[in-house]
Amino acid sequence: MDIKKIGIIGAGTMGTGIAQVAATSGFEVILNDMGDDLLQRSLKIMDKSLSKLAEKGKIEEDKEAILGRMKTTTDLSELKDADFAVEAVFEDFDVKRNVLQELDKLLPPEVILTTNTSSISVTRLAALTERPSKFMGMHFMNPVPLMALVELIKGIATSTDTFEQVKGLTEKMGKTPVEANDFPGFISNRILIPMINEAVYALMEGVGSAEAIDTVMKLGMNHPMGPLALADLIGLDVCLNIMEVLYEGFKDSKYRPCPLLRKMVDAGYLGRKAGKGFYDYSG
Ligand code: CAA
Repeated sequence: MDIKKIGIIGAGTMGTGIAQVAATSGFEVILNDMGDDLLQRSLKIMDKSLSKLAEKGKIEEDKEAILGRMKTTTDLSELKDADFAVEAVFEDFDVKRNVLQELDKLLPPEVILTTNTSSISVTRLAALTERPSKFMGMHFMNPVPLMALVELIKGIATSTDTFEQVKGLTEKMGKTPVEANDFPGFISNRILIPMINEAVYALMEGVGSAEAIDTVMKLGMNHPMGPLALADLIGLDVCLNIMEVLYEGFKDSKYRPCPLLRKMVDAGYLGRKAGKGFYDYSG
């Protein structure tokens, strides 16, 4: 299928990043969210990110030309002529169900529908639609404009043709696709989030300070950020939710969420977005 126009639903951090990368790669983009304020905020974030990338010579076109391919709308039905769709709404099954079922009715049957879910079963989401063979996970990493990976998750019914088309599209977006099957956490969060959870245990048990733990992983293992700083970037609520998905999905005690992680989420210390997590961002 010739994909020219990509519909993206959800203008949060991930939807914004995906929309930016799609427009930068030459696609027409139609970005949908419920409020105009959210869409305006998203455009501002893209503008700032594109200016930064332009300064560094990392984009070939003017940012105006890229943003010229971007249309925003609060009306989901305007996505009806999209050739491809990425759902990136709030990570909650009921919220995703409503959006995916509406999209499924709206989009022509040949259009591939993908989800950016980081933790919900792709097979379970696919089963909500009438097109499970044309449905799969397209899991981008945060910050989307800088991260090379897109994890492509096949649900039990995803067809080989769907997978190949999404793989091709990922490459056209300048990203490296990696194939994963649909098990809790897929590949990325199956490995990353337990590492973060273990870092929180190390902090809780007093093995080291937050700075010490992060410095060991940065300088000792060459990770670009320490696990606690990364938890602050991802959001502690998101990390806790994914640990719970792993624990529920495998019923294995090795995935038990650290009590300190839960305590911080209860306190509202959610990381960068809250101004406080393992580090202070109030300044
Ligand atoms: N757009 C454009 N530029 C950006 C940007 C964006 N969205 N975000 C940051 N930058 C810029 C910064 O402004 C900075 O520019 P200057 O050098 O001009 O100041 C530059 O990129 C580098 O940033 P920093 O100096 O702050 O830090 P860095 O060199 O460490 O790079 C990073 C930042 C790419 C985020 C790097 O730290 C990194 O790779 N961290 C790990 C990120 C990661 O693991 N992401 C996956 C999270 S898990 C996930 O997303 C999945 C899930 O389901 C939970």
